[in-house]
Amino acid sequence: MKIFHSAKEFKNYTKNLRGSIGFVPTMGALHDGHMSLVRRAKEENDFCVVSIFVNPTQFLPGEDLSKYPRRIEADTKLCELAGVDALFLPTLEEMYEEDEPSIKAPKINGYVLEGFVRPGHFDGVLTVVMKLLNISSATKAYFGQKDAQQLILIEQMVKRYFMDVEIVACPTIREKEGLAMSSRNVYLDEEQKKASLAISKSLFAAGTMVGAGELDTAKIEARMREELAGLDVEYITFCDRNLGKQEKIELKNSIVLVAAKVGATRLIDNIWI
Ligand code: PAJ
Repeated sequence: MKIFHSAKEFKNYTKNLRGSIGFVPTMGALHDGHMSLVRRAKEENDFCVVSIFVNPTQFLPGEDLSKYPRRIEADTKLCELAGVDALFLPTLEEMYEEDEPSIKAPKINGYVLEGFVRPGHFDGVLTVVMKLLNISSATKAYFGQKDAQQLILIEQMVKRYFMDVEIVACPTIREKEGLAMSSRNVYLDEEQKKASLAISKSLFAAGTMVGAGELDTAKIEARMREELAGLDVEYITFCDRNLGKQEKIELKNSIVLVAAKVGATRLIDNIWI
């Protein structure tokens, strides 16, 4: 596996590959959610490239940038074992200059849900993803449905900026008990991990209700709130694939999203219905 720290050298490598390139951008502390994207990228392309970069511009002041888990050695081994062709590990200086153009998240969709609680977060995400997509020369880039709003905004950026890459949405990978895998789960102690199961349980309960024919979001939300009673719930939202709010579930066009705090850790999860 090749390892690059320089954007110029990585771009030079990807540009000269003969065949399709599947790209998986990450912030590292890799878990099976990330690796499911890598496996899919490998399956569907001639080459698979991965980036690990804890992007400071998507963290707000006071967020967990400094304590975000960093496990570069273990991550490198995982990528090597998975058969990744090249790993891009840029430094901050490789990715940003002091003053430079940046992408702005849309004024509505970038400032609801996660963007409401974390204003400016998606400006940072979209800017770094634009850079990474350009450096990786990706044919297809793989993103998790776990971060539904991020995925939708990236799809919109690619469409509206006429970018030559296909965005592939991948399903959420969960622990056996249901908790959606996340690099931030390491912040949870055993008791908090147990408490956090209420989030996936509430989403599964929503799925079961829809399966039984219930489409009224008020009724589904009430049931979800019962499951989530012990947690500090930030939002429960029902929206369509463009993040428009829904009063009624529409099959194949609904996402149910939850954000809740377990202790000091903010967790997000969702199901696509
Ligand atoms: P990170 O949180 O490391 O996630 C990298 C990719 O893995 C994202 O597309 C995310 O949705 C996906 N992912 C995370 N947990 C998952 C799970 N349990 N199942 C399936 N996919 C999962 O998201 C980011 O990094 C950053 O914002 C990034 C896009 C790299 C830009 O900095």
